[in-house]
Amino acid sequence: MSKITTARLLAMKQAGHKIAMITAYDATFAKLFEQAGVHAILVGDSLGMVLQGETNTLKVSVDDIAYHTRCVANGSEKMFIVADMPFMSYSTPEQACAGAATLMRAGAHMVKLEGGEWLAETVTQLTRQGIPVCGHLGLTPQSVHVFGGFKLQGRKAEQAEQIKRQAVALEAAGIQLLVLECVPSQLAAEVSRLLHIPVIGIGAGPDTDGQVLVMQDALGLTSGYVPKFTKNFLAESGNVKAAIEAYVAEVADGRFPGPEHSFS
Ligand code: KIV
Ligand code: NA
Repeated sequence: MSKITTARLLAMKQAGHKIAMITAYDATFAKLFEQAGVHAILVGDSLGMVLQGETNTLKVSVDDIAYHTRCVANGSEKMFIVADMPFMSYSTPEQACAGAATLMRAGAHMVKLEGGEWLAETVTQLTRQGIPVCGHLGLTPQSVHVFGGFKLQGRKAEQAEQIKRQAVALEAAGIQLLVLECVPSQLAAEVSRLLHIPVIGIGAGPDTDGQVLVMQDALGLTSGYVPKFTKNFLAESGNVKAAIEAYVAEVADGRFPGPEHSFS
């Protein structure tokens, strides 16, 4: 596998090759995931929950993400690394540029922002200054208190239209990747067809250009509430590398996600 770039991810979409992405927060797992054939790593602000033990992502700082991005970058040679911009770190384009610069210097290849049209100016500014941007629509966990819980988004026709509009506006502003979280499969399929850039789904059905999972979910380490859209790949595999190889293979041939992991 040669180095994965934005150009390579776009070519994968165009060729119909599914992108396998997973979160990682340290060098050990990053190295193992690369050996297992993973294309892209997300240093997600999910670390607030899975590493820090919080009930949501709101306390995560740019420095937290920078620290874990550095760890992941040290364990990765070829994978594409996306780092999350945390809650309230991109309220203005200026603030976003400063935080994103910290993450890029820590080893990220792209930063991810949650939200719609209101981010257009920020996306354009970041991209102009050399920072590729990933959008994130649907269930955006930093807005958990606005949604009133971690809930499926875009079920009503009006909400679905809004998500489609936001996706098109973000693409026009310059995003080069989009994460679509917890939306009906039909809507995710439409957005993936509508956009030229790759769309990565989580809880968004099988018809996106790739999938992302939180590593603790993919390895069955999550206790308490386990989201319906995840799968424990370790249960059938016996070791971590084989589990993630199975994840990559099932994403590639469309076995994951199945109907039992999706919302209709
Ligand atoms: O923080 C994270 O891990 C994420 C994914 C769940 C998409 O944003
Ligand atoms: Na996130």
